[in-house]
Amino acid sequence: MPKHQIPFARTVANLRAQVDAWHAANKTVALVPTMGALHTGHLSLVKLAETHADHVVVSIFVNPTQFAANEDLGTYPRDEVGDVEKLSAHKVDLIYAPTPEEMYPEGFSTTIAVNGISDGLCGSSRPHFFGGVATVVAKLFLQCRPDVAVFGEKDYQQLLVIRRMARDLDLPVNVIGAPIVREPDGLAMSSRNAYLSEVDRKTAPKLNELLRSAANLLAEGRATSKVIPNLKKRLSEAGFDVDYLEVRHAETLAPLDIIGKTPTRLFAAAILGKTRLIDNVVVPAPR
Ligand code: PAF
Repeated sequence: MPKHQIPFARTVANLRAQVDAWHAANKTVALVPTMGALHTGHLSLVKLAETHADHVVVSIFVNPTQFAANEDLGTYPRDEVGDVEKLSAHKVDLIYAPTPEEMYPEGFSTTIAVNGISDGLCGSSRPHFFGGVATVVAKLFLQCRPDVAVFGEKDYQQLLVIRRMARDLDLPVNVIGAPIVREPDGLAMSSRNAYLSEVDRKTAPKLNELLRSAANLLAEGRATSKVIPNLKKRLSEAGFDVDYLEVRHAETLAPLDIIGKTPTRLFAAAILGKTRLIDNVVVPAPR
């Protein structure tokens, strides 16, 4: 698509005026929520969104409520000019980039907790995270009223939390998951990869490589009680500080010890240098 100038909305009122006009004309709307610092992974979400609706809105908002005080809110990469440039080569009809004051007016005091599915995995090491995500995504859904919304499977637990929240609160939006986009060496794309030092960037793909080989061993029938500690050891030897490695049901996130016919994923979070990396892979059903 030739580059084009994309209109901006900075307020809920401006966003709604546009989306309401599309809906009045019987057109459907897809929302791709992002925190900016866009990479090819985000652009794949945009491309998927295009196939599901007549119009695409991309939101760019670095959401303060999903960062703990000791996390990287202050240094999180921001590049609105670069983001607009990247999006302008895609069929994006509106960029919604509210200010923090527009999103969280003085006295804001509501939080959405999606219990159960938010527990464990990233919910254990980042206890504030899913409350912040669920609250801002609920607001984005209510502000934009999209017919569909697209989220990446790299943040797999986030995708399930949002799907559950939309179902529980009867939010009329179809939440679609998009496959992980990887660098040629297997590293899952993430805005935070920009934090990796040159040396750590060379090590980072090991996370996916070792996860994939562990998933294959599990599919061959090796016991999780052997495969997971061995995976942890190999990651530690490679220089990762492992946060979690867990085998879980792909739809309910229930922990699994035995690999059977149920859809299963292997989830990992590990710190490399100053960067926390997450990844997940499908565990194929045993042959
Ligand atoms: O995945 C992200 O970029 C964020 O967590 C999201 C969904 C845009 C909410 O701030």
